[in-house]
Amino acid sequence: MNIHELILKRRSIRRFKSKDIAFDVLKKLVNAGRLAPSAANMQPLEYIVVDDPELTERVFNTLKWAGYIAPAGNPPAGEEPVAYIVIAINMEIKSSGADKDIGAAAENIILAALAEEIGSCWIETIDRPKLKAILELPDKLSINSVIALGYPNEQPLIEELAQPDGSIKYWNDETGRLHVPKRQLANILYRNGYIRPEAAVPQWVLACENSVEEEAYLIKGFLENNGIPCVLEAVKFHEMPVNFGQLSKLRLMVPKEKLAEAQALIQERISQTECPACGALCPVGDLICKYCGKSLEDDEDE
Ligand SMILES: Cc1cc2nc3c(=O)[nH]c(=O)nc-3n(C[C@H](O)[C@H](O)[C@H](O)COP(=O)(O)O)c2cc1C
Repeated sequence: MNIHELILKRRSIRRFKSKDIAFDVLKKLVNAGRLAPSAANMQPLEYIVVDDPELTERVFNTLKWAGYIAPAGNPPAGEEPVAYIVIAINMEIKSSGADKDIGAAAENIILAALAEEIGSCWIETIDRPKLKAILELPDKLSINSVIALGYPNEQPLIEELAQPDGSIKYWNDETGRLHVPKRQLANILYRNGYIRPEAAVPQWVLACENSVEEEAYLIKGFLENNGIPCVLEAVKFHEMPVNFGQLSKLRLMVPKEKLAEAQALIQERISQTECPACGALCPVGDLICKYCGKSLEDDEDE
């Protein structure tokens, strides 16, 4: 994946697999932080890697997760981060104003982690005195941020904010999947003054329609994983008698220039079915998953 693909793919991850990260990889991530831009090249940041299981458990208890949906966004038992990089400011080098250095270093670490297929969550809601005591850090180090790390066990989805003033609060859907609203490019991009560059504003066109919400989100996720931004618009298409309520369908919109690519991917996705046992995508019509060998039929007893 190139850097742009990594940037599009990155999401804050709060559910992780219980698979260790090699210390050499963690060192590589700290090196990515070390080489970030630094104001006046003062380089006040120092990094504490925590990968000892007994310590990671204690660090976990100093952190707060996903405030808008707490406690639903907490990593569930068995899906906690397997390692942390604590970013601290050496106050003897710089006693104030290291925030921008932190931002650059943290994002370098996060993207370098994703290049290794490692998910992360940047955390600032920290019980700092408690964490400092756990790690026995000297007074000169001021803890700023913690980057929680692990192989991802969730795939949050981006939502384009339909209204410029819409709610920025992320939410969990009924399957527990996190949806993260982002302001649309068209609402934050100006050119040569506070002027909308009409040509640069993406023109959203219809790629497909679906009245089954779960399928629409599956296709959306598939397109986004392949680097195509999508917006789902709900449209009412059928007024039913009062007792039946209303039916609606979802219109999946993509940028005009991505339409052909999106349609080819949609064809590919709808000719595949997800294995209920391992989640792999197999051709529709196959009876047995070619990856795990289990039946592709849903277990009707469940
Ligand atoms: C400076 C900073 C502090 C953050 N602190 C927390 C935190 O304490 N706990 C948490 O769960 N997420 C935290 N986050 C992650 C944000 O909630 C997340 O970036 C935001 O919801 C957007 O989601 P995305 O990262 O998937 O784009 C923080 C992010 C930043 C940049």
